[in-house]
Amino acid sequence: MALIEIRTFPDPVLRKLAAPVENITDEIVKLSQDMIETMILAHGAGLAANQVGVPIQLIAVDASLNSRNKKHLIILNPVIIGTDLEEIGEEGCLSVPGFYEFVKRAKIVSARGVDLTGKTIEFECEGQFARAMQHEIDHLKGVLFIDHLSPVKKNIFKKKYAGQK
Ligand code: NI
Repeated sequence: MALIEIRTFPDPVLRKLAAPVENITDEIVKLSQDMIETMILAHGAGLAANQVGVPIQLIAVDASLNSRNKKHLIILNPVIIGTDLEEIGEEGCLSVPGFYEFVKRAKIVSARGVDLTGKTIEFECEGQFARAMQHEIDHLKGVLFIDHLSPVKKNIFKKKYAGQK
């Protein structure tokens, strides 16, 4: 396994629409392993392939954010198929280092995707895990958590990252 450089705002790859994964190649498997290692060492709750410069629909999430699960998950072509309730919680992003803000998200999320064996998986998650799923799937659409902020908070962000936009 190897660490991969995490791209940070305003790197244009973070705004790219990620392409669906059609075939699970050795390269995809290797990238997945490297992303998990990179995410763990960076203390992230999730990582999308865009963030390491590869705009494909592949995310890593820390499934241990749900107490019943104890491992890191790789999900290809993930989609949210249902949501329930809302919750405001603090968020950050490995691509926006040093900036944290409160974002309203669905509290409960049903998601579907494909695992590295090619099997379709469907699951429900809540709380921090649900938040991470929404955050990472946003990345695949070129959306960052700062896009969800109010105009006032966006201004605070712009001041902090002045000249970078
Ligand atoms: Ni992020």
